[in-house]
Amino acid sequence: MEQLTKISTFAQDTLKGLSADQKFLLPKYFYDDKGSKIFQDIMQMPEYYLTDCEFEIFTQYKSEMKDQFVNGNTPFELVELGSGDGLKTKILLNHFVEHQVDFKYVAVDISRQANENLDKKLKAELPGLKTKFKTGDYFKMMNELNHDSDNNKIFLFLGSNIGNFGEKERHQFLNQISGLIQPNDKLLIGFDLKKPKGIILKAYDDPHGHTRAFNLNHLERINKELNADFNIGTFRHVAQYNEQSGEAKSFLVSTKEQSVYIGALEKNIHFQKDEAIYMELSQKFDLDTIQFLAQKYGFKIEKNFTDGHNYFVDSLWVKK
Ligand code: AVJ
Repeated sequence: MEQLTKISTFAQDTLKGLSADQKFLLPKYFYDDKGSKIFQDIMQMPEYYLTDCEFEIFTQYKSEMKDQFVNGNTPFELVELGSGDGLKTKILLNHFVEHQVDFKYVAVDISRQANENLDKKLKAELPGLKTKFKTGDYFKMMNELNHDSDNNKIFLFLGSNIGNFGEKERHQFLNQISGLIQPNDKLLIGFDLKKPKGIILKAYDDPHGHTRAFNLNHLERINKELNADFNIGTFRHVAQYNEQSGEAKSFLVSTKEQSVYIGALEKNIHFQKDEAIYMELSQKFDLDTIQFLAQKYGFKIEKNFTDGHNYFVDSLWVKK
């Protein structure tokens, strides 16, 4: 028991997930330095349409978004939860700086390396931009942010990051943000929409092997940080999509019966042949559900920005 207080949350979460009947790992741990890089490869491949859609939306609507975000001469903070490489957001940042909008960009990400890279890039490319970087989990950071300043805030939660949450976490997230958002604040939240299976499966089981590498890197991280001996060659990546429920799920499946030793936990984890680790949920939505969620958490939708294929929505929410 004494051990428990000394082991990291990563170790505790890994133990919990790999001891469950349906083994699972938490998607937030994908993003170590290597995982953040692999995720950039995913975003750059044509099969991962989500990024292209949001690129298109920002390019087309940057000026309208500026008008929606700016409130007279009041300065505001543009707070991005899960900023990553900031590639899409840079379209807005460029446009706002060009039009001398009085704002500060606050980037929150779980990867310190991603934050440092973005900081360097923005200093070089947009020297006039005011920035602040925070490293950590959204849930912890959101509360801190509120204490940091009482400026108006526009929250960005892009890329369908919300799709990673199961119902319980989604409730926790929307409830928390609804509680801290002020009357003049807004939330721009990205939702990937339900679409035919073929399109989704190509995005989550790509021919280049980036998504597979992204998933296997989670096991490599456990090997490195928790002293484990996963043989990653004995796990295959499987993606599933249910058109009715909109759930896209990814798994790593053990190709043989085996035991894996996790040094930091002093524990053996047993796998049956074909036993799966549930790695990630990427929930897809429809417009009715988005409307329902906004309503349920006390928001009204000011505008839904969509791409030309209607694949993706960036939904702008304000408090009712
Ligand atoms: C960062 C959660 C939006 O679910 O589409 C991409 C992560 N995983 N390919 C997603 C991811 C595999 C991504 N999100």
